[in-house]
Amino acid sequence: MSQFVKREKFIPYNLPNITDQEINEVVDTLKSGWVAKGPRTNEFEKEFAEYLGAKHAIAMNSCTAALHVALLTKDIGPGDEVITTPMTFASTANTIIHTGATPVFADVDFKTACIDPDEIEKKITPKTKAIVPVHYSGQVCDLDRIYEIADKHGLFVSEDAAHALWSRYKGRLIGSKLQGAASYSFYATKNLCTGDGGMLVTDDDEIDRKARIFAGQGMSKNAWNRYAKGGTWKYDICEPGFKYNMFDIQAALGLKQLARLEEMQAARLKIAAKYQEAFGKIDAMDPPYVPDYTTHCWHLYVVRIVPELLTIDRDQFIVELNERNVGTSVHFIPVTYMSAFTNRYGYKEGDFPNAEKHFDRLISLPLYPTMTDEEVQYVIDAVKDIVETYHK
Ligand SMILES: Cc1ncc(COP(=O)(O)O)c(C=O)c1O
Repeated sequence: MSQFVKREKFIPYNLPNITDQEINEVVDTLKSGWVAKGPRTNEFEKEFAEYLGAKHAIAMNSCTAALHVALLTKDIGPGDEVITTPMTFASTANTIIHTGATPVFADVDFKTACIDPDEIEKKITPKTKAIVPVHYSGQVCDLDRIYEIADKHGLFVSEDAAHALWSRYKGRLIGSKLQGAASYSFYATKNLCTGDGGMLVTDDDEIDRKARIFAGQGMSKNAWNRYAKGGTWKYDICEPGFKYNMFDIQAALGLKQLARLEEMQAARLKIAAKYQEAFGKIDAMDPPYVPDYTTHCWHLYVVRIVPELLTIDRDQFIVELNERNVGTSVHFIPVTYMSAFTNRYGYKEGDFPNAEKHFDRLISLPLYPTMTDEEVQYVIDAVKDIVETYHK
């Protein structure tokens, strides 16, 4: 019989990791007389680019903004098609629609839940202009295959790296030695948190030049220092751009978080290793498969149940975890299930079998640097208790 004892306090699915270092930097920023986009945003861009080994980093107010701008820099618009994955947050696909182009979904590889390069090839038409692969949960896509396809068909690759800060493909940091562009998220739950925020990264000077214009209201390059001594009041709006820039209060958080990234990652890796070991021994659980080419940053720990061995489904499994005071999330409901997409493009259940099968089984468990050993063990014990209670 199970010795499981329910704890009193709820373990949330996620908590940001903010220390006095971040708080003091934000307070210093507030007292500095410069809270909008300014020196700290510039410094954060510089340090982020240096950390990745990328030529340019353009700080924005979200990853959504960065994904949108990346496509705009390549003049993607009405009449064009952009291939992406259904196993993502809606913003990956929304931003394609915002350019006027059509999102075309390619199913995922069931093992990794990342976009399947064979499926990408099947979806290419003369209208295809770009691919937006998503490094799902911190797992990385099979980039050699994706860039091979992109090169063959002359396509732009805009990597959605919202989850992938610190992840590596064949030992190379995602975001370094980029052929296209990569977009990061610093939303509250991410491995580096600025509350909300994002970064577009590229080695391409032209993408950098255009992105700064699109993200900054379409203002000509020399306008940002217009309030400084010697700055000019004259500016042109050379594109109908967007108000997408990051500002210094966010960047203050980002700078200190970046300085602590390795320490926070070490904690994530330790927790993920414990989960991998424990769930690998439970027949009704299917822990994440990590291919040899991936160094996983463990933004999310997405475990799958094996419903064939259980008398309950995924939804009930989540209810049972919640009753045992364990918070969870689901990453993601396939975008192709959302009414904005079914109404527009007529997708129906069964169109993306691997993404749908993954969705039916997945649960995102708590994983964040401040989790204690006791909390991690408790989550494992709660999962074991549910499996023992509902095993066929
Ligand atoms: C895969 C993916 N792409 C893009 C985004 C958008 O990020 P943001 O909230 O920074 O706009 C998210 C958000 O969680 C995401 O999970």
